[in-house]
Amino acid sequence: VPAVDKTESVELPIPVKAWPEIIAAAERHPLSFFALGIIGFLTLVVPLGLAKIDGGVLVVAMGAYSLLFATVAAIVYFRPRNLRFEEPAPIADPVRFKKSETQSGDEDSSESGKLRELYGTDKPPPNLDTWYRRIRPSLHQASYYTVPTYYLDRDLYIVDYNIAFEVAFRTKAGKLRGKHVGFFIDILANANQVYEHGKQFTNRVKAEGTFPFVDFEPIVYHSDDFGTIEFTKVASQLHDAGGKLQGWAVALMPRALNWPAFEEQLRQKLFQDKLWSVYSGPYDRILPDFPAYKQLIQDVIAVVPAGGANHVADLGAGTGNVTAALLAQGHRVTAIENNVGMLDRFSVKGLRATIVKGSVDNLECLKDELFDAVVMVNVLYAVDDPLKCLKETHRILKPGGVIGFSTTHQETNLDELLAGIRAHLEATGKFAKLQVDFDVLQRINRDIEKSIARRFSRKQYLSYAQQAGFELTRIVDSTYHNAVMLVHAGKSGK
Ligand SMILES: C[S@@+](CC[C@H](N)C(=O)[O-])C[C@H]1O[C@@H](n2cnc3c(N)ncnc32)[C@H](O)[C@@H]1O
Repeated sequence: VPAVDKTESVELPIPVKAWPEIIAAAERHPLSFFALGIIGFLTLVVPLGLAKIDGGVLVVAMGAYSLLFATVAAIVYFRPRNLRFEEPAPIADPVRFKKSETQSGDEDSSESGKLRELYGTDKPPPNLDTWYRRIRPSLHQASYYTVPTYYLDRDLYIVDYNIAFEVAFRTKAGKLRGKHVGFFIDILANANQVYEHGKQFTNRVKAEGTFPFVDFEPIVYHSDDFGTIEFTKVASQLHDAGGKLQGWAVALMPRALNWPAFEEQLRQKLFQDKLWSVYSGPYDRILPDFPAYKQLIQDVIAVVPAGGANHVADLGAGTGNVTAALLAQGHRVTAIENNVGMLDRFSVKGLRATIVKGSVDNLECLKDELFDAVVMVNVLYAVDDPLKCLKETHRILKPGGVIGFSTTHQETNLDELLAGIRAHLEATGKFAKLQVDFDVLQRINRDIEKSIARRFSRKQYLSYAQQAGFELTRIVDSTYHNAVMLVHAGKSGK
């Protein structure tokens, strides 16, 4: 067919590089698909018509084009999610360049034109206020995922530390929470040098009448796990909106340490922490109404003597569901939890409990014989050293105090539990609304099952409780859709 040759000289009026963007735009505005179809028609089929080719060939070409367009449209719409162009979710009241703020009225000075020029991406650029609206509200999470860092109040007491700090100072971290920074300096290999630096720092503050914004110095620590670690300390002021000093973030930048061993530990701990954070939302939206979970909470806290007014520690308190049940029975509750995702949810519930941000791996910061009871609902499996944790729990209990816990174990299989949760959501007509949450909950539970849930056997947990000094008073081998075991135990009176 000679006319076909002529089509070779027909150029696409739109540069090939621009097509992904056009398709992305068409995805956002389905009607424009038709426009796309018409442009394609004009580009590909009309030149054939103009070339006065045989009518039959033209009809075949038009049919072939329509089929091709319908196929492409179907693929674009129905292809798997991960192949889709990313559409940033809408942000409330986005701040954009106004026309008057752009250099001129032409295309390249538009917001997207500028960002494309800067970042060189064909994807839809982020809105200019993405940092402010999306990143900043979540930025506090980042402090847990950076170099070993501890946080001091204005009086130089250690209020908190991050995960990397807890890994680097594993055997000491628990004792440092709530203590003056002097206790930290005492464990350092170059304590004298650090004290000397401290004196000079104080003299400088006196002379200048103000704190320096940042402060650097070398730190050396002999660690049990990673050999001698050398850091450079970078302390920076934390100030309020009025510029008034509120405390210090003290980052310890590692300069020398057994990195492979440190990295391995850090990777595990960061993974677990993120797992709990991501879990916190779906957990809190799905489980509080799940009858088996409500029953489990009641079964665990049944260990606490009725009548209220007991001081109970809720270890690994999550978003506060167990605490709420204890408060409803008139008890006084101290909730201990170390995950910020969980704590963020807990703290907005307005529960009248004391919330301590801290790890149940390191309860050394708590005084002896503080509590009448301790409860741990589905937490012990997350603890690396359950024996140590149970011993510490025994220590913080008053004589005659009690402990109730439920935990997964070596034989746990979460299939039945997940099926039970799903069936409950379906039966109550909530599945469609909570499906995204359910998918996350399911994925996280699979991760938990693979990584931490089956580390210890039932026998080991019972034996650890006894080794810690407890007398077992109730053992339920399997409950909560066969996902966990349940134990009540007591500390002997004086
Ligand atoms: C499955 S959730 C249970 C939460 C709560 N007990 C409940 O039943 O709703 C496990 C909780 O243990 C917390 N957790 C895990 N390891 C912890 C640790 N070492 N110290 C403190 N909390 C921990 C997690 O952050 C999470 O909130």
